[in-house]
Amino acid sequence: MKPVRVGICGLGTVGGGTFNVLTRNADEIARRAGRPIIIEQVALRSPNPECDLTGIKTTHDVFEVARNPDIDVLVEVLGGYDVPRELVLTAIANGKHVVTANKALIAVHGNEIFQAAHEQGVIVAFEAAVAGGIPVIKSLREGLGANRIEWVAGIINGTGNYILTHMRSEGRAFEDVLAEAQALGYAEADPTFDVEGIDAAHKLTILASIAYGVPLQFEKAYTEGISRVTFDDVEQADNLGYVIKHLGISKRTEQGLELRVHPTLIPKERLLANVHGVKNAIAIMGDAVGPTLYYGAGAGSEPTASAVVADLLDVARDIATDHHYRVPYLAFSGIGEDDGGL
Ligand code: HSE
Repeated sequence: MKPVRVGICGLGTVGGGTFNVLTRNADEIARRAGRPIIIEQVALRSPNPECDLTGIKTTHDVFEVARNPDIDVLVEVLGGYDVPRELVLTAIANGKHVVTANKALIAVHGNEIFQAAHEQGVIVAFEAAVAGGIPVIKSLREGLGANRIEWVAGIINGTGNYILTHMRSEGRAFEDVLAEAQALGYAEADPTFDVEGIDAAHKLTILASIAYGVPLQFEKAYTEGISRVTFDDVEQADNLGYVIKHLGISKRTEQGLELRVHPTLIPKERLLANVHGVKNAIAIMGDAVGPTLYYGAGAGSEPTASAVVADLLDVARDIATDHHYRVPYLAFSGIGEDDGGL
């Protein structure tokens, strides 16, 4: 079978993990995909000591990958807004499918990107953009496809949860735990995104768009982070029987949809209060299924790579079945003018 040829743009935490998972599990992945998925080219700024690039074509120019006629799928794992937007639009214009882990890109430029993908008939897949390795996008779109979604609520920033967990369990200072989360590769390049709730708002915007079939409307989410939470707050909450968790919440109200991210007090015995460290957990209420809960690693190299590679499998199955498999990544094209009252 003709292989699916992948170009990876970025070899940092997520790119390195993607490279290693694809290489290590190549046989298993090929069996599941119906054809091999091979790495044709990698664009990188500097070497990643975790990755053995022997025999792999490399470049410093990400746009070379977007224009490379030997590449079927471009994996965008750079992070940021502007270069990734241009890169992804260039890849789409060159007829390539795109897999991205970039929540900022999808939340802010997704409407434009999905329109371009729709016009070109290519897939833009983004499972890794929300909740790291937890397949919450696929669950929401496919597994819960029959449901009217009533609300979505969860811990969707691993760094923030890591900070709150360690402040509570070890009495450590906010800055100290943040530095540790950065060293472990959990935090964004600009950690303000984690601690001010921006990253969680990006993810909530994406979840809400899929849950309610509305366009991406990042600017309408109420966004508050954990930067003002002190050790005293954590201790007071504990004395009163609560745990402070940073949640992303979206729900239908009589006035329309509501999207908000902020710290909340959760009774200690609740499941969400017991999600610790870099783990994420998302509860989703569907009218048919009732409440459901999704839990796992919300950040980190291989957990996020797990979601990137799952999307590559979807694209490969789509190609292998001559586009009869197509998963509804273009579901966004079915989204009308209705903004859900946001
Ligand atoms: N900085 C993000 C987090 C990475 O901590 O959740 C995963 O999206």
